[in-house]
Order: sequence, then structure tokens, then C-alpha cells
Amino acid sequence: MSPAVTVIGIGADGWTGLTAEHRQLVLDADIVLGGRRHLDLLPASENQIREPWPSPLRESLPALLWKYDGRRVVALASGDPFVSGIGGTLVEILGPGAVVVEPTVSSVALARARMGWDAETVDVVSVVGRDVHRVLRSIAPGHRSIVLSSDADTPGSVADLLVNTGHGGSKMTVLGDLGSDDETSIATTADEWARRRAPQLNVIAIEFDGPVVGGWVAGLPDELFENDGQLTKRDLRASALSRLAPRPGQLLWDVGAGAGSVGIEWMRAHPTCRTIAVEADETRAARIERNAQALGVPDLRVVTGRSPDALAGLPRPDAIFVGGGATVPGVIETCVAALPAGGRLVVHGVTLETEALLAAAHTEHGGELTRIHVETTAPIGTFTGWTPSRAVTQWTLTKEHA
Ligand SMILES: C[S@@+](CC[C@H](N)C(=O)[O-])C[C@H]1O[C@@H](n2cnc3c(N)ncnc32)[C@H](O)[C@@H]1O
Repeated sequence: MSPAVTVIGIGADGWTGLTAEHRQLVLDADIVLGGRRHLDLLPASENQIREPWPSPLRESLPALLWKYDGRRVVALASGDPFVSGIGGTLVEILGPGAVVVEPTVSSVALARARMGWDAETVDVVSVVGRDVHRVLRSIAPGHRSIVLSSDADTPGSVADLLVNTGHGGSKMTVLGDLGSDDETSIATTADEWARRRAPQLNVIAIEFDGPVVGGWVAGLPDELFENDGQLTKRDLRASALSRLAPRPGQLLWDVGAGAGSVGIEWMRAHPTCRTIAVEADETRAARIERNAQALGVPDLRVVTGRSPDALAGLPRPDAIFVGGGATVPGVIETCVAALPAGGRLVVHGVTLETEALLAAAHTEHGGELTRIHVETTAPIGTFTGWTPSRAVTQWTLTKEHA
């Protein structure tokens, strides 16, 4: 049996805003855990242990929970503990049966209520303790996001980002201390935010305005990726991603990542999609990080190193793309072995040597071989003609279930 915890959501209206039932749960607890701000909202108590969350939180939490095993433990969290809160972490550590959650109204629900926005028309982006570039993934003219801020500086950072990407006309409403007597609302544009001050506790409601960054289906224009020519071009990228088939929560290894375009588009498919980009060249590895930031997926992980050695010890992927280095001994074998049942592998090659390797791999493992020729138009004198690019051989394997 693991320890049990009751998590109570508390609003900006503090102790008096709790229901009588929730107040009693807190008063009856032997131990109350929570952020310092939340613990300070409670009335004094002499024989109750009150302990702020440890740091680093995720690593220290199991020991803390086991220390109080068998006692009545209540944790305080703001709003709905399952909205970017402690709820998910506790369930991950203790299992769902051991965590009872009593939510109150989330800051996201309050923000939507103030804005008059339907839940179905809004996405929620948390930049709490994370890179603000995450906001850029949501950019589309007219689209709305609610951003969970880290602190009073977040609205300024988000405004700078929007201005620097040409989206300074986006409307920003910074909603502070929602649900308290001191609630504030500052409605402005990113351009005009400049030196304004925000409350420490805030969320930002954004209505994007500005140039279209690209669609949300794979195949962004090549120009959106800073690159040195080592880029999986648009039509081939779209083809590869359709076979890699990103699904929520899944992990891609982008092997020989170049400019990182395949891994970036994998992560743009869904906010929970993850990528590890493996790239031998340090300059390119740094470029992948810049591209990932610019396209709103700063959490993409870059591993600088040579495959197959660099693949050792990485978390197991759900799909693998090999855009470069397929002829290095061991790369294809390592990738095939790393795939779980149902996992997808896509390998691209342009040389005869890679093509021979892919034909052999196809004979050995099965899958699908496709040859893709892309031609684009270019001037021929005063006329227009087709310019072919190098044909690419694509091998796709979906690992059978045992
Ligand atoms: C870690 S998230 C937790 C969200 C929380 N679980 C909820 O349901 O509201 C914290 C975010 O909520 C914001 N927040 C929490 N309470 C707020 C309030 N009363 N007014 C405005 N923002 C609030 C914080 O500024 C931060 O962006």
C-alpha cells in the first residue's frame, strides 16, 4: 500500500473561499503540504505539521510522502490540482487510488468566464517554470490561447516574443488574482504591453493577430527552418511524417536530425508529442534548438553525438526517423531493435549505397519501399520547365505485434 493524500484546491480568496467540508478536511489533517503561499493562507494551528513542497519537487516528493505514511495528509494546490498542478505528479508517484482530489474553480475557467470564451475554442499553454517559446506553437490568426504564467515577468516575455515574430497586434488580456477581492484585468496588445506591470499571480488571454506561421498539418514551408541545406524538404517531410504517424504522448527519435524539421513537426502535431533529435554536428545541433524555439517546441531534446553510439540509453521511442547516417554500421539494426511492437521506422536515402542497404533491410524485415521524385518549376529562358531534385528512397517499417 502506498501513502494516501487528499488534495484540496484553494482559490485566490483563500481560507474563507473553501467550503465548510474542505476547511474541516484541512483542520483534521495531521500534515498539510503545499506551496508557502498556500500554507500562509491557513489559520494558525499548534499541533499540525505544515511543510512546504520540497525542492527539487519531483525527486524529493516520494521520500516526503513515505515519511508521513499512515497519517492524515492533506495537500493544498491552487484551483484545479489537475490543471498544470500537483495532482498529476502525485498520481504518478502514488497511483490513482491513493490520491483524492477536491478541486475548486481553475484559473483557466475563471479566465474563460471573464473573457466570455468557450472552452472548445481555446487552448491552454503552461509556461510555468518553462520556456515561453511554447506559446509560439499556438499561433494562428484569430486563434485564442490562455497562457499560465510563471510570475509577474511572464506577460512581458510573451509580449516581446509576439512583437519579435510580427504578432505585436495580438490582443493580450492579463488577468491577475482571479477570484480575489483584488482581481485585475489589463487589456492591451503585445505591442503596447512594453513597460506595464503585472501581478505575480496571473494568466494571459491571447487572441493572435499577425502573419500565418504555417499549417498544423506536417509539411511546413522549408523557409521556416534555418538550415545549411541539410533539411528534409517539405514534400518528403510530409510524406515521412504521414508514415511516422504522430500520436499523443509518443516519442520520436530523429536520427541525423540536420535542421530538426521532422522532429519539430512531430512535436507540433500534439502538445504531448516528444522528440529526441540526435545530431553529430555541434553547429547543426545548436541550430535545431533555435528552430525548435522559433516554431514553438522548445522542449525538443537535442543529443549531440554519433549514431548508433549516441542512441544507447535513450528512452524507448514509438517511432524513428533516420534522415542521415543510415549507412553507418549498426544504425539501422539499432533502430529496428529499439522499436516496440506497433512502432514505426522511416529511413530516407539518396545514394546508391543507402538504397542497397534499404533494399536489403526491406527483404529482411518487410515494410514498404517508396521512391519519391519531386520536381518544381523554374525558368528556362523565357519559358518555364521542371527541375527535378534527387530521387529519395524511403523505407517504412511498422513493427508487428508479437
Ligand atoms: C501551476 S498553474 C496551476 C493552475 C491551477 N491548478 C488552477 O487550476 O488554476 C499556476 C498558474 O495559475 C495561475 N493562477 C493561479 N491562481 C490564479 C488566480 N487566482 N488568478 C490568476 N492566475 C492564477 C498562476 O499565475 C499560474 O499561471
